[in-house]
Amino acid sequence: MGLFSFLTQEIAIDLGTANTIIIHNDKIVVDEPSIVAIDLKTEKMVAIGEKARQMQGKTHANLKTIRPLRDGVIADFNAAEQMIRGMIKMINSKPRMFSPALKMVVCIPSGSTEVEVRAVRDSAEHAGGREVYMLYEPLAAAIGIGLDVEAPEGNMVVDIGGGTTEIAVISLGGIVTNRSIRIAGDDLTSDIMEYMRHQHNIKIGERTAEEIKIHVGSALSQLKDPPPDFIVQGPNQMTALPIEVPVSYQEIAHCLEKSISKIETAVLAALEQTPPELYADIVTKGIWLAGGGALLKGFDKRLTDKIGIPFRVAEDPLRAVVRGTGIALKNVDKFSFLIR
Ligand SMILES: Nc1ncnc2c1ncn2[C@@H]1O[C@H](COP(=O)(O)OP(=O)(O)OP(=O)(O)O)[C@@H](O)[C@H]1O
Ligand SMILES: [Mg+2]
Repeated sequence: MGLFSFLTQEIAIDLGTANTIIIHNDKIVVDEPSIVAIDLKTEKMVAIGEKARQMQGKTHANLKTIRPLRDGVIADFNAAEQMIRGMIKMINSKPRMFSPALKMVVCIPSGSTEVEVRAVRDSAEHAGGREVYMLYEPLAAAIGIGLDVEAPEGNMVVDIGGGTTEIAVISLGGIVTNRSIRIAGDDLTSDIMEYMRHQHNIKIGERTAEEIKIHVGSALSQLKDPPPDFIVQGPNQMTALPIEVPVSYQEIAHCLEKSISKIETAVLAALEQTPPELYADIVTKGIWLAGGGALLKGFDKRLTDKIGIPFRVAEDPLRAVVRGTGIALKNVDKFSFLIR
């Protein structure tokens, strides 16, 4: 850090459908849900991140919570820009510090269209980015896991986020095979909401459904370390009276089955398209799981058993992408695969 380092501030951003994480000076300085709350009268942002999340489902007529990203891409440009701006401000109590010049690396889904890439670049620039680089998420995940993405070797990463599951085979600094499907953590959460309504006559919101997923979500109906039943409270759909329902991991495994098998099918399809030499590398080295969805109980085991290649969950899978983006930030001159 030189005397004039304040002239260029450098940040790496994982702008996710569910969570936005920012690295600055090698440290994670922001890790917040990708949500903003907007006052509809003044059109001003009143809360951001975790604070906005706590307002979800509890707003009144003049207040709205918005998730600016859907399916991995920006769905509400204005809200996205305000969110990025607000999160950058969170980094330092002296926001002035960031006005001079901001070098940013932001990652994007590998299936992004040109328009979607443009939208990310524009919001980053509007939020103060002077020098903006973009990086495909599976590459970022692979770098974050510690794989040598530039080697002439096949590496496979499956990133199960909130909005998208990205499956990629990487070799020589590029993505060789890639599948991106819009089935991920958010869909599992919706599956649970639907199931609870149907099966247990209980109405629950997104946050409760997510809690159920985290506690008793499972990709297998038989787990070695089964979690205890999770008690859900809510109104009975018919009577509106409060009820309590214990939910077992087995029934949640059953309710998630359809979505999970779609993810499994996509993984198989990506493998099918993989050139043989790279396929051989992958069989030897195994496949890495990243993103919050990788934490679903039994997911790694299920894929390993089904496909016959070892699947491993990355260390701190929710942060693998941002870790890789942070490494890319320090290597913008060296990494030829960054999009300028
Ligand atoms: N322990 C857990 N078990 C199952 N799912 C989990 C767990 N923890 C987090 N998740 C889910 O992971 C998802 C968020 O993961 P992540 O932060 O990687 O997504 P994202 O990067 O914001 O989304 P995307 O990459 O699709 O834009 C959410 O759907 C969340 O419910
Ligand atoms: Mg992600």
